[in-house]
Amino acid sequence: MADSTKHAAANSDSGSGEAGKASDGSTKKEGASVIFKLYCLAVLTVMAASYTVLMRYTRTVEGVRYYSTTTVFVTECAKMFFTLCILLKEHKGSIRKVSQELKGNIIGKPTEMLKMSVPSIVYAIQNNMTFIGLSNLDAATYQVTYQMKIPCTALLSVMMLGRSLGGMQWIAVFVLTGGVILVQGIGGEAVSHTSGTDGNYVVGLTALTIAVFCSGFAGVYFEKLLKGSDTSLWVRNVQMYSWGMLSAFMGVVMHDWQNVRENGFLYGYTPLVWLVVLLGSGGGIYTSIVVKYTDNIMKGFAAAAAIVLSTIASIMFMGLVVGWMFVLGASLVIAAIFMYGLPKTNTERLPTKKGGTTQNV
Ligand code: C5P
Repeated sequence: MADSTKHAAANSDSGSGEAGKASDGSTKKEGASVIFKLYCLAVLTVMAASYTVLMRYTRTVEGVRYYSTTTVFVTECAKMFFTLCILLKEHKGSIRKVSQELKGNIIGKPTEMLKMSVPSIVYAIQNNMTFIGLSNLDAATYQVTYQMKIPCTALLSVMMLGRSLGGMQWIAVFVLTGGVILVQGIGGEAVSHTSGTDGNYVVGLTALTIAVFCSGFAGVYFEKLLKGSDTSLWVRNVQMYSWGMLSAFMGVVMHDWQNVRENGFLYGYTPLVWLVVLLGSGGGIYTSIVVKYTDNIMKGFAAAAAIVLSTIASIMFMGLVVGWMFVLGASLVIAAIFMYGLPKTNTERLPTKKGGTTQNV
């Protein structure tokens, strides 16, 4: 994470929203380099793929079952910890400067702080819903349903950010969704509807549908707040994770309080569960970097690539056998990436309205 956060910190330093402005005040075409964007997308891709596999494994394996609400809370705390470390590094180890900056942005800007509660609480709901989804559905049904967040996010980006997608890009969005669904249909896994004897298909599907909307809405709302102001990414993240910790804690109290009191907060935490926490928090931080330097739609493309890559890895290292559906699906995903025009599109800033038409700058 070190290199990318250094780069991201440097960019937020130089700009906190100004990254991308030339000395003459005109807006530069490129803020972060394409290589850097690709690097962030790749890391997020790998993290997201391993997170999903591991999270599901720890929820469905026989033995003691940890309380997922506590994991969401611990992950929020870990994200806060990493973000504060990055801020400290950005301020060359000066705790005084970090506290000053945070005081100015948290106590000094209550309205901004309040605005951040929206994506944060919605994300907390989403994070809890994905755990419920994964605990009740098989991996394939989970992945297929969750892919609906790609068109959902694209639609919300157009509605909430005024972003405009060309005809080809809309087609790419749907080709991508179809491609990922085909890729996920491999191995006939989608036929079995539940993950185990205690899986409830309806509960899992409902939870995941809620998670899809939460993912789209929270992601786009976060992007709007991040790119619509001069506040740096890391300060925005501190604001976000403060609310995140609070709402995740409420989740523990409302859902698992009795269990936690009886068995302890970290009941059932094996090293693998800690790895889920690490991947979840790293993935969250990389998500924020990716949203800053690209956008939520491109994040969806990265996630799709993640699914294809993780399947290819399973073919190579675990002897997974795939059929024509995977080959077709993977080809569609690759085609969609090119059709959309990645990574040429620069969406580091929100679109501006010029002469009645919306333009991505
Ligand atoms: O599934 P999706 O890509 O919408 O998940 C995004 C994840 O990134 C959520 O778990 C959310 O908590 C996390 N995130 C974060 N920090 C941000 C934005 C998102 O940790 N600034």
